[in-house]
Amino acid sequence: MKNLIKISLLLGLVVSLNVNAESGDKLDRQLCSICHGIGGNTTSEQFPMLAGQNAIYFTNQMKAFREKSRANLNATRFMWGISSRLTDEEIDKLAAYYEAQTPVHSGKITDKARYDQGKALFTTGDQSRGILACAACHGEKAQGNASIPRLGGQHEEYLKKQLKVFYGNDRPAAAAMHEIVKALTDKDVEALAQYLQAQ
Ligand code: HEC
Ligand code: HEC
Repeated sequence: MKNLIKISLLLGLVVSLNVNAESGDKLDRQLCSICHGIGGNTTSEQFPMLAGQNAIYFTNQMKAFREKSRANLNATRFMWGISSRLTDEEIDKLAAYYEAQTPVHSGKITDKARYDQGKALFTTGDQSRGILACAACHGEKAQGNASIPRLGGQHEEYLKKQLKVFYGNDRPAAAAMHEIVKALTDKDVEALAQYLQAQ
């Protein structure tokens, strides 16, 4: 009996040591950085930046991948498998870790006219076409807040892809965005992505 107690205490210690060892930093290096870059700073247009992303938004997305509710094609291909291996505690650690990283923005203005059009839409919207100012929710600096994502410095290709995803229902948690994109033309999407990637 005594031995059993000793063994279970020891096991408890090993398990808790293990959990502590898997810091956000380590999980990033082991599981995520190969695609998202070290600390969530990636220069590849294929993968979204995670550095500086709001922890609540991040956590919501990881859980949406894990429960398979965020179901756009690239989410199913790249994020369903890996998220299913993470516990709530690991997701929390990763969320705190990425939120604390400083985003290294690689975006540059490549089309000034388009950039200006994107800036106007983002900051003031377009009442005549029923387009809300994105800044009202995403913040003047596109930094987001809590469950609203940071968009500033995000990759152009990724932004364009997600705005198109919102026309359908593959991100059911994004009901607000589903309504908003209905008023956007392809040109608006190009302009918004050009503006945001260079923030
Ligand atoms: C094999 C490449 C790959 C790996 C490994 C990977 N990801 Fe991803 N991740 C992607 C791609 C591609 C997307 C974009 C999915 C989409 O288009 O919806 C993505 C999207 C995300 C998003 C959503 C971002 C947003 O702005 O909504 C989060 C959060 C995320 N990944 C976190 C992680 C974490 C944490 C890990 C490690 C545990 C990880 N990813 C590992 C490729 C990867
Ligand atoms: C009413 C508030 C609101 C407004 C206005 C709004 N958004 Fe959003 N947006 C959200 C929320 C909330 C989410 C996160 C949804 C989720 O959890 O999946 C989001 C998500 C996004 C994403 C996905 C980011 C990622 O990392 O995957 C993009 C891109 C985006 N919004 C762009 C815009 C643009 C461009 C505009 C203006 C045309 C806009 N939003 C206006 C609330 C808003």
